[in-house]
Amino acid sequence: MSEPHASPVLAGKHLDIEQPGALVAYLRRTGRIGAREQPAVRVLSGGVSNRVVLLERPSGESWVLKQALAKLRVRVDWYSSPERIHHEALGLRWLERLAPQGTITPLVFEDHEHHLLAMHAVPEPHDNWKTLLLAGHLSRDHVTQAAQLLGEIHRRAWERRGELLPIFEDRSYFESLRLEPYYGYAAEQAPAAAAFIESLIAETRDCRLTLVHGDYSPKNVLVHEGRLVLLDHEVIHWGDPAFDIGFFLTHLLSKAHHLPAHREAFADAAGLFWRVYLEAAGRVEWAAELEPRAARHTLGCLLARVAGRSQLEYLSEAERTRQREGVLALMLGAAPVRVSELIHTFVERL
Ligand SMILES: Nc1ncnc2c1ncn2[C@@H]1O[C@H](COP(=O)(O)OP(=O)(O)O)[C@@H](O)[C@H]1O
Ligand SMILES: [Mg+2]
Repeated sequence: MSEPHASPVLAGKHLDIEQPGALVAYLRRTGRIGAREQPAVRVLSGGVSNRVVLLERPSGESWVLKQALAKLRVRVDWYSSPERIHHEALGLRWLERLAPQGTITPLVFEDHEHHLLAMHAVPEPHDNWKTLLLAGHLSRDHVTQAAQLLGEIHRRAWERRGELLPIFEDRSYFESLRLEPYYGYAAEQAPAAAAFIESLIAETRDCRLTLVHGDYSPKNVLVHEGRLVLLDHEVIHWGDPAFDIGFFLTHLLSKAHHLPAHREAFADAAGLFWRVYLEAAGRVEWAAELEPRAARHTLGCLLARVAGRSQLEYLSEAERTRQREGVLALMLGAAPVRVSELIHTFVERL
């Protein structure tokens, strides 16, 4: 790595953390690391909406720095304010208190000028859960952990609703990064689904029950020594917990679609996730009315991931078409209200 030098660009507003020299100069200048410290810097790929960099310090401590991009790295034009990184920092602070120990990476610092944060790195070796799943490594223990983690976040946040609701009331990132690009855009692309999706958007906006992660996907989960760690909290908000369930089940069901040899195992895993989630959510007063909404969000997300702005890259054109048609048929008919029935019907139609 080249020795960083002072320049107006490095010292000024336009810090790009993917430039190792500029990053190290910035960290030294702000006293976050020693004035002569030489950390190793590695740009991490996989992020869609952020620059993500691993920093290994000589002390053995490792951080991940994350800086929000104004223009997301997807096929269609999609913009979002870099201020959202501070929303993620807020999420990190609270999730660490709400989620089971070790499942959230502690926040190290946050910088409002350069729209970045630093958190503890998940130690190596670790695997991205999505990569494991796409390779057919589906573990019931991982699915159980994922369901417990989500159920616990939803329940524990609800128990502290008086305190948390005002903190997470702002749903503008959920609107601009989920409701519009996933649901709104999918409804435009598949007009037959518009009535179903529009009513789903309206009921989601009306629903303010607990803390919702908003990006609860295997891609945002790392597995280290058999334990799950959850990342990427930028659309966290106070809203409808059924969204997280539908968003997550969509990943299992789309893999059931894409991997015929593992279809039954993924369908079973989806059922397991739902049952364990309900147990973990426990006696929240909204548990009884959750299931039909979870089923509707699953349908909404299954469509959004083949017709929205952020499509699942591993599905072929033929698979996208099949998923779209299968989901549309369910939306237009008597849409399943039980999660088990939805899983069964979706998989049967493939
Ligand atoms: N704390 C961390 N420890 C290790 N790797 C991380 C950490 N945070 C992010 N990453 C890696 O960077 C990738 C992108 O990070 P993520 O927070 O999901 O950003 P984006 O919002 O751009 O998707 C993750 O999939 C993961 O591989
Ligand atoms: Mg991510």
